[in-house]
Amino acid sequence: MDRKLRIGVFGGYRGHTMINVLYAHPHAELVAVCDKYQPLLDKVRTEAEEKGMNVALFNNFEDFFNYDMDAVILANYANEHAPFAIRCLDKGMHVLTEVLPCETMAQAVELIEAVERSGKVYAYAENYCYMNHSFEMWRRYEEGAIGEVTYCEGEYIHDCSAIWPNITYGERDHWRNRMYATFYCTHSIGPMLTVTGRRPVQVVGFETPPDPCSAGLGTVAGSGIEMITLDNGAIARSVHGGLKREPSSTAYMFYGTKGMMETARFKEENKRFNLYRESDKLCIGDWEKYDPEPVIEADMAKKFASHGGADLYATHFFIEKILGNPVAEKYSIDVYRAVDMGICGILAYRSILNGNVPIAVPNLRNPEERDAWRNDHACTTPEVAGDQLLPPSSFPSKRIKDEVYDYVRDIWVKDNHANAEHPYPGNPFEE
Ligand SMILES: NC(=O)c1ccc[n+]([C@@H]2O[C@H](COP(=O)([O-])OP(=O)(O)OC[C@H]3O[C@@H](n4cnc5c(N)ncnc54)[C@H](O)[C@@H]3O)[C@@H](O)[C@H]2O)c1
Repeated sequence: MDRKLRIGVFGGYRGHTMINVLYAHPHAELVAVCDKYQPLLDKVRTEAEEKGMNVALFNNFEDFFNYDMDAVILANYANEHAPFAIRCLDKGMHVLTEVLPCETMAQAVELIEAVERSGKVYAYAENYCYMNHSFEMWRRYEEGAIGEVTYCEGEYIHDCSAIWPNITYGERDHWRNRMYATFYCTHSIGPMLTVTGRRPVQVVGFETPPDPCSAGLGTVAGSGIEMITLDNGAIARSVHGGLKREPSSTAYMFYGTKGMMETARFKEENKRFNLYRESDKLCIGDWEKYDPEPVIEADMAKKFASHGGADLYATHFFIEKILGNPVAEKYSIDVYRAVDMGICGILAYRSILNGNVPIAVPNLRNPEERDAWRNDHACTTPEVAGDQLLPPSSFPSKRIKDEVYDYVRDIWVKDNHANAEHPYPGNPFEE
């Protein structure tokens, strides 16, 4: 292609990370941004003026959708990516979506079929696969450093209680307030699938008791655990949510037939990446311990070092995959792997609601496995689920009072995006 790719970004909050990458990328340009929240558009307008760039700004999706773009990045609400992605693919645009890939099993099928009929690039921005330590695990596993996986763990623990006002704005229906324990699962599951190259075949889900302060901030779900059987028989344990610890944790561990590798869980005390490899004598081996650095496009990656060095790569690999770069072809996460990651969480919640029973994970690469899920709309969003609506937690809960959302919104609006120091002071539930 003799010109830069024309890319638009839908959702300017988290989407601003992608906007920053596009400002700097040699093969793509930011041509449009859409967000209904005007301050986010104003910020882009100011930046674009400073850079002498022309960026079209839209406060509604329809006008954005009709703008002339080669590709879009969807950083809108986490439960709404698939329907927008399908429309964009059907219009002939390449699509990169933030986490998560789909809200329902029906959307998983629809998304895969939209990618197949469009022939366009779909990429999944699971940046936790590209953190310095998890990306290093991917490369070391590929070179055979620990042999074949037998057991692994992925952990994304992030207590967002203090920042809840800034990420839910006091909106009762915000996806973060409606999400169930195992929905936001791909930060912990994702790297286990990219590192090992395996596919999930079965999942059992668990929900921890909800944190007592959650309801006073507007949400009722506990943290999620998925016990996943991989297609070589290995077991993967994923845990994610707002359990109490600081700093937050993004840790991964892989046991294989020749050794193991793991993240130091309190990074200031230890090296980030640790690998044990057995020698030709049983139970005797060597350790390697180091802090990995970016390898691919290292200079550019260091400029986008948020999220453990990861935030260049999803956008970069998306752009380069469109342009036919084989490195990007290898590392960009395609729709099948994205759906593998996302549906483990959807099906884990079925498991939880049915007494932690094992649920088979379909391989939606196979057209013959799709029909069973085509009409499965179960989720916690009433407009999507219809009569298949699920409760937001497996633990009994009541409806949260409006006053709780007013309290959270006041912190966000009146206190100028302050952190919450305490939950709503009083009984958060309606009588
Ligand atoms: N990968 C990561 O590290 C990471 C970190 C944070 C958020 N995320 C993801 O990024 C996405 C966005 O999350 P967020 O933190 O920015 O919060 P968010 O979901 O509250 O924000 C979404 C943004 O999109 C805008 N938006 C949504 N629907 C719109 C519509 N129909 N028309 C116009 N504007 C619309 C909203 O105004 C908001 O600014 C989510 O998918 C989330 O999972 C990923």
